Amino acid sequence: MFERSDALRERAHAAIPGGAHTYAKGDDQFPRRSPGFIARGLGCRVWDADGNEFIEYGMGLRTVLLGHAFPEVVRAVERQLALGTNYARPSPIEVEAAEELLSIVTGAEMVKFTKDGSTANNAAVRLARAVTGRDRIAICADHPFFSTEDWFIGTTPMNAGIPKAVRDLTVTFRYDDLASVARLFEAYPGEIACVILEASRGDDPKDGFLHETQRLCRRHGAVFVLDENITGFRWHLGGAQRLYRITPDLSTFGKALANGFAVSALVGRRELMELGGIRHDRERVFLLSTTHGGETHGLAAAIAAMRVYRREPVVAHLERQGTRLAAGVRDLAKGHGVERHLVVAGRPCNLSFATLGPDGAPSQAFRALFLQELIARGALAPSFALSYSHRDVDVDRTLEAVDGALAVYQRALEAGGVERFLDGPPTRVVFRRYC
Ligand SMILES: Cc1ncc(COP(=O)(O)O)c(C=O)c1O
Repeated sequence: MFERSDALRERAHAAIPGGAHTYAKGDDQFPRRSPGFIARGLGCRVWDADGNEFIEYGMGLRTVLLGHAFPEVVRAVERQLALGTNYARPSPIEVEAAEELLSIVTGAEMVKFTKDGSTANNAAVRLARAVTGRDRIAICADHPFFSTEDWFIGTTPMNAGIPKAVRDLTVTFRYDDLASVARLFEAYPGEIACVILEASRGDDPKDGFLHETQRLCRRHGAVFVLDENITGFRWHLGGAQRLYRITPDLSTFGKALANGFAVSALVGRRELMELGGIRHDRERVFLLSTTHGGETHGLAAAIAAMRVYRREPVVAHLERQGTRLAAGVRDLAKGHGVERHLVVAGRPCNLSFATLGPDGAPSQAFRALFLQELIARGALAPSFALSYSHRDVDVDRTLEAVDGALAVYQRALEAGGVERFLDGPPTRVVFRRYC
């Protein structure tokens, strides 16, 4: 069933550390009986290297919000490709894309594009440090990923190669726990350059947590940064900041911004952003200057995607399908008597699930089993984050797959473990010290 994938896997591991260019796509994240390589996608469907078809969830690490090869985006890219992709001076499309994004993220006054969310967040941190003259940064410990850079990776168990001096500069607080933010400002008076967090991972912030955190930042002279790499265009057209009616000093967008093409952005207040420019008399800040930052076809994709987000009911569709999917999975889990072991979580537009073993503790073995059984029934679902291309029929087919998978899941729970059911080892968490 996965012969070509299995052959490619050996070549991949010989040529590429980890066999993939993104840890979240790696072999240790999926069961053995899974498609190792995806050869093409259309809408919410993908076909693996062996020609097997799947309904996909997660959609390119949540980048492909409209669907794979979305025609309007593809046409915009094709038109731009014929005109060339990178020149000695900026292209008009850089201005057009900037104005389009700023008209959507209404609180932001300036934008700089780059290629990935990490680089955008790195720039936010650099700018915050420059304007405050402070070194320390505060990040939310409940949010799993901000950047590939030392200031974030240093906080994970996989921190080899990162100097202690750098690690010590990042301190953490808890989401929805204002006291934990306040404690940091007390413990490090006048030292914190910025507070960075996602506006939400699923549930809405409680007791005005975002606004109160911003107030603390103002009181203590720190820059307030929202990471909208996931929430952008998904929680609301204008990002979670629009939904929660808050205007951060700086925010970052990526992922869905260009529906799968590599475009991300740092946006924010003019007074801060302009320090990266050449029309001021203050000390300059090196703010995002990359060879590929203005790559024209990526920006063409971003403009096309943003116009669809603006014109069509994308957020409402995600909300509706996500609500159906979550309710369907919860009903099925209940029907199989496993509702305390397979738990759907998150916002309808960005669903995930937790797999808990017989003892009620999170279980990678049961996660692997659930993925394996979904895959066997045509659903590739490391999460349940869906796209504008997931139609009723796709959600219905997915629920059939979930039904079959949960029957096996329930038998494994009854047996006290996955041994007789799972082919190969359990999946693993990305951030661990050893292989
Ligand atoms: C919330 C968040 N911020 C930043 C990033 C980093 O983005 P990138 O992988 O494009 O560098 C991610 C990646 O998963 C993310 O989920």
